[in-house]
Amino acid sequence: MIKNEIEFILNDKLIQINNIDTNVTVLNYLRINKKLTGTKEGCASGDCGACTAVIAELNNNKLEYKSINTCIMFLYSMHGKQLITVEHLANSKLHPVQQSMVDNHGSQCGFCTPGFVMAMFAMYKDKIKPNNKNIDEYLAGNLCRCTGYNSIKKAAKKMYSYGKKDKFSDDKNKIIKLLKTIKQNDIIISKENNKFYIPSNLKNLIKYTQSNEKYNFVTGGTDIALDITKKNNTINSLIYLGNNKDLNFINVKANYINIGSATPIRKIIPILKKYYPSFAEMFYRYGSTQIRNVATIGGNLGSASPIGDSLPALLALNTKLVLQSKKQRIIDIKGYFKSYRKTALKKKEFIKEIKIPILKNHIFKCYKISKRFDDDISSLFVAYLIKLKKNIIVDVNIAFGGMDSIPKLALKTQKYLIGKELNLENIEISKKIIEKEFTPLTDMRASSTYRRLVSKNLMERFFLEINENTKVRI
Ligand SMILES: Cc1cc2nc3c(=O)[nH]c(=O)nc-3n(C[C@H](O)[C@H](O)[C@H](O)COP(=O)(O)OP(=O)(O)OC[C@H]3O[C@@H](n4cnc5c(N)ncnc54)[C@H](O)[C@@H]3O)c2cc1C
Ligand code: FES
Ligand code: FES
Repeated sequence: MIKNEIEFILNDKLIQINNIDTNVTVLNYLRINKKLTGTKEGCASGDCGACTAVIAELNNNKLEYKSINTCIMFLYSMHGKQLITVEHLANSKLHPVQQSMVDNHGSQCGFCTPGFVMAMFAMYKDKIKPNNKNIDEYLAGNLCRCTGYNSIKKAAKKMYSYGKKDKFSDDKNKIIKLLKTIKQNDIIISKENNKFYIPSNLKNLIKYTQSNEKYNFVTGGTDIALDITKKNNTINSLIYLGNNKDLNFINVKANYINIGSATPIRKIIPILKKYYPSFAEMFYRYGSTQIRNVATIGGNLGSASPIGDSLPALLALNTKLVLQSKKQRIIDIKGYFKSYRKTALKKKEFIKEIKIPILKNHIFKCYKISKRFDDDISSLFVAYLIKLKKNIIVDVNIAFGGMDSIPKLALKTQKYLIGKELNLENIEISKKIIEKEFTPLTDMRASSTYRRLVSKNLMERFFLEINENTKVRI
């Protein structure tokens, strides 16, 4: 049965919506329609965290809490979730996170404070140990101009001392019960010329793509929502993949890590850690916690930006992509990137699954170079995959992002290295080949000269880090 409204819990009330424009963000809905103005707008592009709220979703009968940037989240993607705003945190007394912010002087002008409080609240509900590393991870997506981060971090460190249980612990069963009443049917919202489709399974997703001529997919929305919030465009027809059960999975089978294209990056990291720790580590520098909670590799591939971080890593790892329209085909990622943001995807086709080979006898490492450590887009990205036999290179892939109009393999350098001994002399020669192989752009992120220099130096860094005699982490 197809429904024409979404249902979600706003704080503790179950509500239905179908009369609001399909391009509206959660932030604008909260502030304009519900007058819940505690959630602030700073950048409207996912960069400052002022708009942070928390969603709770049911997973195996448990509530999973995630911080989100409401400024780049479509309202209709809230179907089936609980949306918690800062207004709902306190009851007769402040929430432990809020009390800790007060007592540790974590707020000055207060503009960023609701966002910080909500990011900390997600951390509190996840029961995360408040050490420096974890605090940096959970709060890197929030900016403050006046308080200074020390007192905010102190508040995060002390938050559990105000109680490890909150009113949400008491209300848990009530919320789970309410969430269970929401059916995961297909939903089509029509508002004037605009439509928002929520297909709940693969079969129906194929049906909507086949019966429509023009539409855009939205999964995490962390790229596509900026078309609306930053470019002021209207997107008439959106097909939301985030609730699609057939695209939301990660499993390890027959030498492949298989990832459904709508699986949030947050869920992928623990499995990647086991097989490709360097890939997993990179993801901690991919946007912020708010971004990783919803953004997907499917969306990164869909945008196909030359500086999309997962793309060179997937390219170096010989990843396969399962593309779906009425029929399914599997392609090698090497044939996916055609020209600037143009891909091998045909009309009415989408990415269903990403298959990363498990290469136990290879060494894999990747490096992200950006101006800021956290929450920044790469100036340059490189991924290396190498197989050695008695120190002779028998297999090698070197994939760059930010060096050309598409993510690209250094084919000439690879050709030179095959059959060579892994030593500094050969690495020096390979650096000269890399220099000639690419003509990078100069743009606001880096100059062409810088990109060339770094691409060569990273070759040496990789060598030093994997060489038996040096083996250092640089
Ligand atoms: C603050 C901020 C920080 C960011 N930091 C990084 C970063 O560090 N590294 C980085 O690489 N990116 C970064 N990004 C960009 C973005 O988060 C990533 O590209 C992300 O992976 C996109 O995933 P998504 O699910 O949100 O995509 P969406 O925005 O939902 O979709 C992106 C595009 O892909 C298409 N698409 C989505 N799913 C599919 C599918 N299954 N099949 C075919 N097409 C599809 C959509 O139609 C759309 O055109 C950042 C963005 C923001 C706002
Ligand atoms: S308003 Fe800045 S992240 Fe949303
Ligand atoms: S308290 Fe002013 S921006 Fe953080």
